[in-house]
Amino acid sequence: MNKVCVLGAGSTNYGKLKEDIIEIALTASVEAIKSAGISPKDIGAGYISNVFGIADKQVHMAPVIMSNLGISHVPGLTIESACGSGSVMFREAYANVAAGFYDCVLAVGVEKVTHTGTAQSTTLFSYCSDFFYEGGNGASFPGLFASIARYYMTKYKADEEDLAYVAVKNHDNGLLNPKAHMRKRITIQDVINSPVVASPLKLLDCCPFSDGASAVILCNEEFAKKSNRPYIEVIGSGRGGSPASVQGREDISTIPSTVIAAKQAYKMAGITPEDVDFAEVHDCFTIAEIIDVEDLGFFPKGKAAKEIREGATSRKGRIPINPSGGLKSKGHPIGATGIGQVAEVYDQLTGKAGERTINDAKIALTHNFGATGASAAVHLFKKVE
Ligand SMILES: CC(C)(COP(=O)(O)OP(=O)(O)OC[C@H]1O[C@@H](n2cnc3c(N)ncnc32)[C@H](O)[C@@H]1OP(=O)(O)O)[C@@H](O)C(=O)NCCC(=O)NCCS
Repeated sequence: MNKVCVLGAGSTNYGKLKEDIIEIALTASVEAIKSAGISPKDIGAGYISNVFGIADKQVHMAPVIMSNLGISHVPGLTIESACGSGSVMFREAYANVAAGFYDCVLAVGVEKVTHTGTAQSTTLFSYCSDFFYEGGNGASFPGLFASIARYYMTKYKADEEDLAYVAVKNHDNGLLNPKAHMRKRITIQDVINSPVVASPLKLLDCCPFSDGASAVILCNEEFAKKSNRPYIEVIGSGRGGSPASVQGREDISTIPSTVIAAKQAYKMAGITPEDVDFAEVHDCFTIAEIIDVEDLGFFPKGKAAKEIREGATSRKGRIPINPSGGLKSKGHPIGATGIGQVAEVYDQLTGKAGERTINDAKIALTHNFGATGASAAVHLFKKVE
């Protein structure tokens, strides 16, 4: 396999956007192309991740994006894997460059849903669950993650304040990210006092519905070296699956797809969780981040809540988690999220993350899952000096 590098990255603001879905995708793509110092004619293939293009009247998005970039002859592929679409798509782009099919590809994730309103977005998102057992019986994602939170809190004697620490830390990080959706400092009491969405989860335990796009340029090492631009190397890639419905799992205090994907990625990179300097993880709800950091091997099972309270995951902590603000504060445009995480890692490891830079970071991890973790991907990246 060829070594694969990330040579450039771009993102729109995340939030409620007025532009149409193609314009949003193109804005991020053009920024990534410029950041890589390439021209569209260097792109051998386009990979697009998106879930609800239909909500903005555009499916079969890849040819539209390629045509607007002036490279209509270039093949494109749209990939859907619910909230994990971006990382699953990144894996396909990675695999195709590693296999030598292309020297350089564009990977762009995009979503636009906020114009449909909370009720309609909640209905649409429920189609990403195992609809026969879950969405079809009225279970929304806040409801499903509330069940997971109750189980975890009972098993490990965690409480609602433990969840709130995740939200406060991620909002604090998001304040330093000019592109974040929810840029607002919050306190533990703000979280505890915010309206209940699905007990024990409250408004400030939930990620918002967001619009936005992120794009990165992947290429082989020779292409990256010739560019004379900063780049990072992909050193590990893993994917895993879990029973689609929450009720189909033996123990819902863990997400099997994360554990499987992480093991593969660490093995491929030849490293352990101790070698990772920071991570962007899937914190769609505060409980998810607590479970993620245990499943990724950063903390033993049942111990993360205490570590998070003591600051282990803050920007200056032992293992900073979600310096971008995460899904909670940066936002969660579901098709874009996994690529947005890679864009954050690229910015961090190439000195472009400004005030939120994690000092001396050399190795970073991204983790992104679909639905309640039915699908997941984990990637590892190394700074190139
Ligand atoms: C949490 C949720 C129910 C809130 O929806 P809502 O009640 O319609 O919220 P609104 O959009 O009317 O916003 C109300 C206020 O709360 C704020 N807000 C909304 N969602 C927020 C969030 N997740 N975090 C922080 N603040 C939020 C808004 O900015 C707004 O503030 P303002 O009154 O000062 O302008 C909704 O965002 C949600 O369901 N999120 C989860 C999405 C999801 O399931 N994603 C998939 C994950 S697997």
